[in-house]
Amino acid sequence: MADLDNVKDAKMFYTDVPAKNTPFFLKGSNSLDWGMKNRLSNIFNPSTGKTVMLAIDHGYFQGPTTGLERVDINIVPLVPFTDTLMLTRGILRANIPPSYTGGIVLRASGGPSILKELSNEELAMNIEDAIRLNAAALAVQVFIGGEYETKSIHNMTRLIDKANRYGIPVLAVTAVGKEMVRDARYFRLACRICAELGATYVKTYYIAEGFDTVTSSCPVPVVMAGGKKLPELDALTMSYNAIHEGALGVDMGRNIFQSDSPVAMIQAVRKVVHENMKPQHAYELYQTLKNKIDKKKSKRSK
Ligand code: R5P
Repeated sequence: MADLDNVKDAKMFYTDVPAKNTPFFLKGSNSLDWGMKNRLSNIFNPSTGKTVMLAIDHGYFQGPTTGLERVDINIVPLVPFTDTLMLTRGILRANIPPSYTGGIVLRASGGPSILKELSNEELAMNIEDAIRLNAAALAVQVFIGGEYETKSIHNMTRLIDKANRYGIPVLAVTAVGKEMVRDARYFRLACRICAELGATYVKTYYIAEGFDTVTSSCPVPVVMAGGKKLPELDALTMSYNAIHEGALGVDMGRNIFQSDSPVAMIQAVRKVVHENMKPQHAYELYQTLKNKIDKKKSKRSK
Protein backbone atom coordinates (compact mmCIF):
# COMPACT_ATOMS: atom_id res chain seq x y z
CA MET A 1 0.00 0.00 0.00
CA ALA A 2 1.49 3.37 -1.00
CA ASP A 3 2.01 5.90 1.79
CA LEU A 4 1.31 9.15 -0.02
CA ASP A 5 2.75 11.22 2.83
CA ASN A 6 6.08 9.62 2.03
CA VAL A 7 7.70 11.61 -0.83
CA LYS A 8 9.23 8.53 -2.47
CA ASP A 9 5.93 6.59 -2.50
CA ALA A 10 3.99 9.63 -3.63
CA LYS A 11 6.37 10.16 -6.56
CA MET A 12 5.96 6.52 -7.63
CA PHE A 13 2.18 6.73 -7.30
CA TYR A 14 1.74 9.85 -9.36
CA THR A 15 4.40 9.20 -12.01
CA ASP A 16 3.35 5.57 -12.60
CA VAL A 17 -0.07 6.67 -13.75
CA PRO A 18 0.27 7.68 -17.39
CA ALA A 19 -1.57 10.85 -18.30
CA LYS A 20 -4.34 9.68 -20.63
CA ASN A 21 -5.83 12.00 -23.13
CA THR A 22 -7.38 9.50 -25.52
CA PRO A 23 -9.42 11.12 -28.28
CA PHE A 24 -13.11 10.26 -28.26
CA PHE A 25 -13.86 7.29 -30.50
CA LEU A 26 -16.43 8.99 -32.73
CA LYS A 27 -15.61 11.01 -35.81
CA GLY A 28 -15.90 14.78 -35.39
CA SER A 29 -17.07 14.48 -31.79
CA ASN A 30 -13.89 15.07 -29.79
CA SER A 31 -14.71 18.64 -28.82
CA LEU A 32 -18.14 17.82 -27.42
CA ASP A 33 -18.85 18.02 -23.72
CA TRP A 34 -18.67 15.01 -21.37
CA GLY A 35 -22.43 14.56 -21.16
CA MET A 36 -22.83 14.63 -24.91
CA LYS A 37 -20.04 12.07 -25.34
CA ASN A 38 -21.53 9.88 -22.66
CA ARG A 39 -24.92 9.93 -24.40
CA LEU A 40 -23.28 9.14 -27.76
CA SER A 41 -21.56 6.18 -26.09
CA ASN A 42 -25.02 4.90 -25.26
CA ILE A 43 -25.89 4.98 -28.95
CA PHE A 44 -22.62 3.89 -30.59
CA ASN A 45 -20.96 0.87 -29.01
CA PRO A 46 -17.56 2.15 -27.80
CA SER A 47 -15.87 -1.20 -28.51
CA THR A 48 -16.81 -1.29 -32.21
CA GLY A 49 -17.59 2.38 -32.78
CA LYS A 50 -20.83 1.33 -34.52
CA THR A 51 -24.54 1.17 -33.77
CA VAL A 52 -27.58 -0.88 -34.64
CA MET A 53 -30.46 1.52 -34.18
CA LEU A 54 -33.92 0.11 -34.65
CA ALA A 55 -36.14 2.78 -36.21
CA ILE A 56 -39.78 2.38 -35.23
CA ASP A 57 -40.85 6.01 -35.41
CA HIS A 58 -42.79 5.68 -38.70
CA GLY A 59 -46.15 5.97 -36.94
CA TYR A 60 -45.54 9.68 -36.30
CA PHE A 61 -46.75 10.39 -39.83
CA GLN A 62 -47.87 6.97 -41.17
CA GLY A 63 -49.94 5.63 -38.28
CA PRO A 64 -49.92 1.85 -37.73
CA THR A 65 -47.88 0.94 -40.81
CA THR A 66 -47.10 -2.68 -41.78
CA GLY A 67 -45.07 -4.34 -39.04
CA LEU A 68 -45.80 -1.64 -36.47
CA GLU A 69 -49.50 -2.39 -35.91
CA ARG A 70 -48.70 -3.91 -32.52
CA VAL A 71 -45.43 -2.61 -31.10
CA ASP A 72 -46.00 -4.60 -27.90
CA ILE A 73 -46.15 -7.90 -29.82
CA ASN A 74 -43.99 -7.32 -32.92
CA ILE A 75 -41.27 -4.99 -31.67
CA VAL A 76 -40.68 -5.69 -27.99
CA PRO A 77 -38.99 -9.08 -28.79
CA LEU A 78 -36.43 -7.20 -30.92
CA VAL A 79 -35.47 -4.77 -28.20
CA PRO A 80 -32.72 -6.92 -26.60
CA PHE A 81 -30.85 -7.00 -29.92
CA THR A 82 -30.69 -3.23 -30.37
CA ASP A 83 -28.02 -0.73 -29.34
CA THR A 84 -30.54 2.06 -29.67
CA LEU A 85 -34.23 2.59 -30.28
CA MET A 86 -35.47 5.44 -32.41
CA LEU A 87 -39.10 6.15 -31.63
CA THR A 88 -41.71 8.64 -30.47
CA ARG A 89 -42.29 9.46 -26.82
CA GLY A 90 -45.81 7.99 -27.10
CA ILE A 91 -44.61 4.54 -28.10
CA LEU A 92 -41.74 4.72 -25.62
CA ARG A 93 -44.03 5.33 -22.67
CA ALA A 94 -46.71 2.91 -23.82
CA ASN A 95 -44.66 -0.08 -24.94
CA ILE A 96 -40.97 -0.06 -24.05
CA PRO A 97 -39.88 -1.46 -20.69
CA PRO A 98 -38.10 1.24 -18.65
CA SER A 99 -35.45 -1.36 -17.80
CA TYR A 100 -34.11 -0.94 -21.35
CA THR A 101 -30.48 0.20 -21.10
CA GLY A 102 -29.74 1.07 -24.75
CA GLY A 103 -29.88 4.62 -26.03
CA ILE A 104 -33.24 6.23 -26.66
CA VAL A 105 -33.39 8.49 -29.70
CA LEU A 106 -36.63 10.43 -29.57
CA ARG A 107 -38.43 11.71 -32.63
CA ALA A 108 -38.74 15.43 -31.92
CA SER A 109 -40.32 16.77 -35.12
CA GLY A 110 -43.69 16.10 -36.70
CA GLY A 111 -46.97 17.58 -37.76
CA PRO A 112 -48.18 16.54 -41.21
CA SER A 113 -49.52 13.06 -41.86
CA ILE A 114 -49.08 11.12 -45.10
CA LEU A 115 -52.22 12.94 -46.29
CA LYS A 116 -50.42 16.30 -46.37
CA GLU A 117 -47.15 17.96 -47.42
CA LEU A 118 -44.60 16.09 -45.31
CA SER A 119 -41.93 18.77 -45.24
CA ASN A 120 -44.23 21.13 -43.33
CA GLU A 121 -43.07 19.88 -39.90
CA GLU A 122 -42.71 21.69 -36.59
CA LEU A 123 -40.77 20.77 -33.50
CA ALA A 124 -43.02 18.33 -31.70
CA MET A 125 -41.62 17.93 -28.20
CA ASN A 126 -39.92 20.09 -25.63
CA ILE A 127 -36.56 19.61 -24.06
CA GLU A 128 -37.91 19.00 -20.54
CA ASP A 129 -39.78 15.92 -21.69
CA ALA A 130 -36.68 14.66 -23.49
CA ILE A 131 -34.70 14.97 -20.26
CA ARG A 132 -37.54 13.35 -18.28
CA LEU A 133 -37.40 10.39 -20.65
CA ASN A 134 -33.60 10.20 -20.40
CA ALA A 135 -33.12 10.69 -24.14
CA ALA A 136 -29.70 9.82 -25.53
CA ALA A 137 -30.47 11.97 -28.59
CA LEU A 138 -33.27 13.83 -30.35
CA ALA A 139 -34.13 13.28 -34.02
CA VAL A 140 -35.38 15.91 -36.43
CA GLN A 141 -36.34 15.55 -40.09
CA VAL A 142 -34.59 17.86 -42.56
CA PHE A 143 -36.09 18.29 -46.04
CA ILE A 144 -33.31 19.61 -48.26
CA GLY A 145 -34.89 20.67 -51.55
CA GLY A 146 -38.37 20.14 -50.09
CA GLU A 147 -41.17 22.69 -50.13
CA TYR A 148 -40.50 23.71 -46.51
CA GLU A 149 -36.72 23.30 -46.63
CA THR A 150 -35.91 26.46 -44.65
CA LYS A 151 -38.50 25.73 -41.98
CA SER A 152 -37.17 22.21 -41.48
CA ILE A 153 -33.61 23.52 -41.21
CA HIS A 154 -34.73 26.06 -38.63
CA ASN A 155 -36.48 23.27 -36.72
CA MET A 156 -33.12 21.54 -36.62
CA THR A 157 -31.07 24.57 -35.56
CA ARG A 158 -33.59 25.53 -32.84
CA LEU A 159 -33.58 21.99 -31.53
CA ILE A 160 -29.76 21.91 -31.56
CA ASP A 161 -29.60 25.17 -29.59
CA LYS A 162 -32.02 23.82 -26.97
CA ALA A 163 -30.42 20.37 -26.80
CA ASN A 164 -26.88 21.79 -26.58
CA ARG A 165 -27.83 23.49 -23.30
CA TYR A 166 -28.31 20.07 -21.74
CA GLY A 167 -25.68 18.07 -23.62
CA ILE A 168 -28.18 16.14 -25.72
CA PRO A 169 -27.05 15.10 -29.22
CA VAL A 170 -29.28 15.85 -32.22
CA LEU A 171 -29.68 13.39 -35.07
CA ALA A 172 -30.57 15.08 -38.36
CA VAL A 173 -32.58 12.79 -40.61
CA THR A 174 -32.29 13.65 -44.29
CA ALA A 175 -35.75 13.13 -45.74
CA VAL A 176 -36.07 12.51 -49.43
CA GLY A 177 -39.20 13.66 -51.23
CA LYS A 178 -40.56 11.58 -54.11
CA GLU A 179 -39.37 14.13 -56.65
CA MET A 180 -35.77 14.26 -55.33
CA VAL A 181 -32.91 12.71 -57.32
CA ARG A 182 -31.34 10.22 -54.95
CA ASP A 183 -27.71 10.54 -55.95
CA ALA A 184 -24.40 11.18 -54.19
CA ARG A 185 -24.51 14.88 -55.04
CA TYR A 186 -27.87 15.29 -53.34
CA PHE A 187 -26.90 13.32 -50.23
CA ARG A 188 -23.54 15.09 -49.92
CA LEU A 189 -25.42 18.38 -49.97
CA ALA A 190 -28.05 17.27 -47.46
CA CYS A 191 -25.67 15.63 -44.96
CA ARG A 192 -23.13 18.40 -45.10
CA ILE A 193 -25.72 21.14 -44.50
CA CYS A 194 -26.98 19.26 -41.42
CA ALA A 195 -23.45 18.86 -40.04
CA GLU A 196 -22.42 22.44 -40.80
CA LEU A 197 -25.45 23.73 -38.92
CA GLY A 198 -24.64 21.68 -35.84
CA ALA A 199 -26.19 18.20 -36.06
CA THR A 200 -24.29 15.78 -33.85
CA TYR A 201 -24.83 12.96 -36.32
CA VAL A 202 -26.76 12.39 -39.52
CA LYS A 203 -28.97 9.66 -40.89
CA THR A 204 -29.22 9.20 -44.62
CA TYR A 205 -30.04 6.64 -47.30
CA TYR A 206 -27.59 4.33 -49.04
CA ILE A 207 -26.84 4.81 -52.70
CA ALA A 208 -24.87 2.37 -54.83
CA GLU A 209 -22.70 5.03 -56.49
CA GLY A 210 -20.59 7.35 -54.34
CA PHE A 211 -21.89 6.67 -50.83
CA ASP A 212 -18.27 6.87 -49.64
CA THR A 213 -18.18 10.51 -50.78
CA VAL A 214 -21.30 11.21 -48.71
CA THR A 215 -19.73 9.83 -45.53
CA SER A 216 -16.28 11.31 -46.13
CA SER A 217 -17.57 14.83 -46.83
CA CYS A 218 -19.73 14.78 -43.70
CA PRO A 219 -17.57 15.75 -40.71
CA VAL A 220 -19.77 13.94 -38.16
CA PRO A 221 -20.95 10.30 -37.98
CA VAL A 222 -23.38 9.08 -40.63
CA VAL A 223 -25.78 6.19 -40.04
CA MET A 224 -27.70 4.50 -42.83
CA ALA A 225 -31.50 4.43 -42.99
CA GLY A 226 -32.84 1.21 -44.44
CA GLY A 227 -35.55 2.51 -46.75
CA LYS A 228 -38.16 0.32 -48.43
CA LYS A 229 -38.27 -3.39 -47.61
CA LEU A 230 -35.77 -5.39 -49.69
CA PRO A 231 -35.15 -9.15 -49.81
CA GLU A 232 -33.09 -10.04 -46.70
CA LEU A 233 -29.84 -10.78 -48.57
CA ASP A 234 -30.06 -7.43 -50.37
CA ALA A 235 -30.67 -5.56 -47.12
CA LEU A 236 -27.68 -7.29 -45.50
CA THR A 237 -25.53 -6.51 -48.53
CA MET A 238 -26.60 -2.87 -48.41
CA SER A 239 -25.71 -2.70 -44.69
CA TYR A 240 -22.31 -4.30 -45.32
CA ASN A 241 -21.53 -1.89 -48.16
CA ALA A 242 -22.67 1.13 -46.15
CA ILE A 243 -20.40 0.21 -43.25
CA HIS A 244 -17.48 -0.41 -45.60
CA GLU A 245 -18.10 2.95 -47.22
CA GLY A 246 -17.95 4.87 -43.96
CA ALA A 247 -21.32 4.60 -42.20
CA LEU A 248 -20.94 4.16 -38.45
CA GLY A 249 -24.05 2.05 -38.16
CA VAL A 250 -27.55 1.52 -39.40
CA ASP A 251 -30.81 3.05 -38.29
CA MET A 252 -33.11 0.53 -39.92
CA GLY A 253 -36.80 0.04 -39.67
CA ARG A 254 -38.76 -1.70 -42.41
CA ASN A 255 -35.96 -4.03 -43.46
CA ILE A 256 -36.06 -5.43 -39.94
CA PHE A 257 -39.64 -5.21 -38.70
CA GLN A 258 -41.17 -6.15 -42.08
CA SER A 259 -38.78 -9.10 -42.52
CA ASP A 260 -40.23 -12.62 -42.58
CA SER A 261 -38.35 -13.11 -39.32
CA PRO A 262 -37.54 -9.80 -37.60
CA VAL A 263 -35.76 -11.43 -34.62
CA ALA A 264 -33.49 -13.39 -36.99
CA MET A 265 -32.92 -10.38 -39.24
CA ILE A 266 -31.83 -8.01 -36.50
CA GLN A 267 -29.29 -10.55 -35.26
CA ALA A 268 -27.88 -10.94 -38.77
CA VAL A 269 -27.67 -7.14 -39.14
CA ARG A 270 -25.76 -6.98 -35.83
CA LYS A 271 -23.18 -9.43 -37.14
CA VAL A 272 -22.64 -7.31 -40.26
CA VAL A 273 -22.39 -4.03 -38.37
CA HIS A 274 -20.39 -5.08 -35.32
CA GLU A 275 -18.46 -8.12 -36.53
CA ASN A 276 -17.91 -7.33 -40.18
CA MET A 277 -19.68 -10.53 -41.23
CA LYS A 278 -19.95 -10.95 -45.01
CA PRO A 279 -23.51 -10.59 -46.38
CA GLN A 280 -23.78 -14.20 -47.57
CA HIS A 281 -22.71 -15.55 -44.16
CA ALA A 282 -25.07 -13.17 -42.42
CA TYR A 283 -27.88 -14.37 -44.68
CA GLU A 284 -27.10 -18.00 -43.82
CA LEU A 285 -27.21 -17.04 -40.14
CA TYR A 286 -30.56 -15.32 -40.77
CA GLN A 287 -31.95 -18.51 -42.35
CA THR A 288 -30.67 -20.73 -39.54
CA LEU A 289 -32.16 -18.49 -36.86
CA LYS A 290 -35.41 -18.15 -38.80
CA ASN A 291 -35.76 -21.94 -39.11
CA LYS A 292 -35.19 -22.36 -35.35
CA ILE A 293 -37.77 -19.69 -34.53
CA ASP A 294 -40.29 -21.17 -36.99
CA LYS A 295 -39.83 -24.64 -35.47
CA LYS A 296 -40.41 -23.32 -31.96
CA LYS A 297 -43.54 -21.49 -33.14
CA SER A 298 -44.96 -24.57 -34.84
CA LYS A 299 -44.27 -26.72 -31.72
CA ARG A 300 -46.12 -24.18 -29.59
CA SER A 301 -49.11 -24.10 -31.92
CA LYS A 302 -49.51 -27.92 -31.83
C1 R5P B 1 -38.97 7.78 -41.26
O1 R5P B 1 -39.35 8.85 -41.55
C2 R5P B 1 -38.14 7.58 -40.13
O2 R5P B 1 -37.25 8.61 -39.92
C3 R5P B 1 -37.42 6.26 -40.12
O3 R5P B 1 -36.78 6.24 -38.90
C4 R5P B 1 -36.42 6.07 -41.22
O4 R5P B 1 -37.01 6.19 -42.47
C5 R5P B 1 -35.72 4.72 -41.10
O5 R5P B 1 -36.57 3.70 -41.29
P1 R5P B 1 -36.50 2.77 -42.58
O6 R5P B 1 -35.30 1.91 -42.41
O7 R5P B 1 -37.77 1.99 -42.55
O8 R5P B 1 -36.37 3.67 -43.78
